[in-house]
Amino acid sequence: MDFQFLSWFPLYSVLLFLRTLVFMQILQCSSHPDEWYQSCGATFSCGTITGVGYPFRGNGDPEYCGYPNFLLKCSQENTTSIRLMNVTYRVLKIDQATQIMKIAREDVMDATCPRELVNTTFNYAVYDYTSAYMNITFLYGCPVSVKLQSPSFFSCGSKGYDSVDVVSGAQGPGNCNYSVVVPVLKTGTEGSVSLTHLDQLLQEGFEVRWKMDGKACSDCTRTGGRCGYSFSTNQTTCFCPGQPYLSDSCSATKRDSPGPDHLPTTSCQDDTQYVACAGRFRCANFSNLEYPFWGGGRTSYCGHPAFGLDCQGDVPLITLQSRKYRVLGIDTRSLLITVARQDLWNNTCPNLIYNTDLDYRLFKHPSSDENLTLSYGCGSLAVVPGTPYKFDCTVNGTSSSDNYFFTEATLAIAPPNCRNIISVPINQTSAQSLTTTTASQDDLQEVLKVGFRLNWEANDTNCNECARSGGRCGYNSTTSSFACYCFDRPYPFRCNETEPGNYNFPVCA
Ligand SMILES: *[C@@H]1O[C@H](CO)[C@@H](O)[C@H](O)[C@H]1NC(C)=O
Ligand SMILES: *[C@@H]1O[C@H](CO)[C@@H](O)[C@H](O)[C@H]1NC(C)=O
Ligand SMILES: *[C@@H]1O[C@H](CO)[C@@H](O)[C@H](O)[C@H]1NC(C)=O
Ligand SMILES: *[C@@H]1O[C@H](CO)[C@@H](O)[C@H](O)[C@H]1NC(C)=O
Ligand SMILES: *[C@@H]1O[C@H](CO)[C@@H](O)[C@H](O)[C@H]1NC(C)=O
Ligand SMILES: *[C@@H]1O[C@H](CO)[C@@H](O)[C@H](O)[C@H]1NC(C)=O
Ligand SMILES: *[C@@H]1O[C@H](CO)[C@@H](O)[C@H](O)[C@H]1NC(C)=O
Ligand SMILES: *[C@@H]1O[C@H](CO)[C@@H](O)[C@H](O)[C@H]1NC(C)=O
Ligand SMILES: *[C@@H]1O[C@H](CO)[C@@H](O)[C@H](O)[C@H]1NC(C)=O
Ligand SMILES: *[C@@H]1O[C@H](CO)[C@@H](O)[C@H](O)[C@H]1NC(C)=O
Ligand SMILES: *[C@@H]1O[C@H](CO)[C@@H](O)[C@H](O)[C@H]1NC(C)=O
Ligand SMILES: *[C@@H]1O[C@H](CO)[C@@H](O)[C@H](O)[C@H]1NC(C)=O
Repeated sequence: MDFQFLSWFPLYSVLLFLRTLVFMQILQCSSHPDEWYQSCGATFSCGTITGVGYPFRGNGDPEYCGYPNFLLKCSQENTTSIRLMNVTYRVLKIDQATQIMKIAREDVMDATCPRELVNTTFNYAVYDYTSAYMNITFLYGCPVSVKLQSPSFFSCGSKGYDSVDVVSGAQGPGNCNYSVVVPVLKTGTEGSVSLTHLDQLLQEGFEVRWKMDGKACSDCTRTGGRCGYSFSTNQTTCFCPGQPYLSDSCSATKRDSPGPDHLPTTSCQDDTQYVACAGRFRCANFSNLEYPFWGGGRTSYCGHPAFGLDCQGDVPLITLQSRKYRVLGIDTRSLLITVARQDLWNNTCPNLIYNTDLDYRLFKHPSSDENLTLSYGCGSLAVVPGTPYKFDCTVNGTSSSDNYFFTEATLAIAPPNCRNIISVPINQTSAQSLTTTTASQDDLQEVLKVGFRLNWEANDTNCNECARSGGRCGYNSTTSSFACYCFDRPYPFRCNETEPGNYNFPVCA
């Protein structure tokens, strides 16, 4: 640090020092903090275009590794293309030092007249022509009178137009159906268009310069970082090795850092939560779990308290209203969990008799679901001939045969005096299979095995907002409320974006 500077601006220096302390904590606590740095390492090479880096990115790179719309694609023939303002261009040359790219419309590479009736335009905030170019205009579907006046129409056969006129300069369609403006490199014969070499001229392309300041990126790479794009500031940013945050460059914080003997003695509490709740986790046969779930290797504060999983067996178990359920499916996108009662999963005769009870503030049944009724120790079903809906049951050593299952459609014939009755949610498919008079005990077991779905609500909208601000979702059991863990500390809802290091950032696909 510059100590002269420090004495002039003590407040600024203190702030800088505090910022450094926060950075030091992160360096100490994070385990896999540099996923952005790691994922943006690749350069693009294709055919004669080689080693191209930021602002460009290749087709497989994450969006944040390049400037928006600087996406390069490599064809099977090893030609490079880029799509700008609805026109695909063949990339002929990229010079990163001068920020100049030579491109030609892809649709003139094997035909003289543009096949896509779209003007060549650019986002002039990002691109500029280099001076050495001129416009030519293709006129499609012109009336005969125009053709007679014009010396330069020729056959093109494009999109049903059997002839196309070519004039110099940018022009509107006038009496013709369409006009398409294409820039070409300026030649000696200024102002006039030579038809004989037109296709050659078009395929040679023209030059554009990208205007964004390259300094931000060169500062970054010079200090050992990799350039990327922040969708929160809409600017080039820097990913540094071993660091979970974005900055302008990498070595600045190292240079400003106090030596190891000046390390802060404060605990890493806040950052620990941010680190512990990163990414997805595995539980039994599920590998992609995230908030509101926790369990297995994932600490409880990373999830909602009601969504703890027991990951010991082959399927996760979840405890709802102190009863155990097998987790058969989780769909985090639609917030749907499929569960089956653990006690009924391979057994129609539970030792303990209880209804399927849920916390309806957290879970909702799909509206088409209904209740299956299991009745134990009833009299015989006098009304109906035969013995439909019947199942055997041996509980506590005593066997009883007067046990029945009923769906809503068959519940009317249920005998009134059963010893125990429980209800279990089932979906419509299951209900139908148990309503037919041939439904057997095996059908019943099958239905209990496939379980039922529940729609959950566990502050998931809060979580989306938190994640968008760069935080990681969790729950504060002290305050019984959602928590958003950010790199500096937990926040109630979202990271404080005015703090350095907290940014909106897309999640890696
Ligand atoms: C494209 O480039 C790759 C790698 O350089 C090469 O293996 C392949 O043969 C090339 N394909 C064509 C069509 O030239
Ligand atoms: C690209 O084409 C689509 C659909 O034809 C149109 O909605 C959009 O505005 C065009 N974009 C530009 C930048 O011209
Ligand atoms: C080329 O045409 C565009 C409009 O399509 C215009 O903005 C630009 O100034 C023209 N350039 C020259 C050199 O005429
Ligand atoms: C191309 O630009 C000209 C103006 O320079 C405009 O009159 C014409 O309609 C545009 N053509 C298309 C296909 O958008
Ligand atoms: C960044 O760009 C997006 C989309 O163009 C815009 O909505 C947003 O306000 C911009 N943010 C900043 C900080 O300029
Ligand atoms: C049901 O499964 C459990 C655990 O998988 C097992 O211990 C039990 O014996 C099984 N019961 C029946 C009736 O198959
Ligand atoms: C089976 O025995 C247990 C323990 O004695 C008892 O709690 C339970 O209610 C009995 N179950 C039935 C269906 O009688
Ligand atoms: C089953 O019955 C219980 C209690 O009567 C009710 O709260 C629950 O919503 C019902 N389940 C379904 C799927 O209709
Ligand atoms: C009922 O659940 C089974 C098994 O999960 C599923 O295959 C079926 O599509 C579900 N039916 C309805 C109507 O949701
Ligand atoms: C979600 O958060 C709000 C406060 O933001 C709280 O009132 C509500 O109880 C929470 N819901 C759940 C299911 O935790
Ligand atoms: C929970 O909130 C309390 C009160 O705001 C706070 O003191 C505590 O550090 C928080 N705990 C976690 C794990 O965020
Ligand atoms: C965010 O941080 C800024 C600067 O540190 C501070 O002034 C502001 O009060 C903070 N906002 C919240 C909601 O914590």
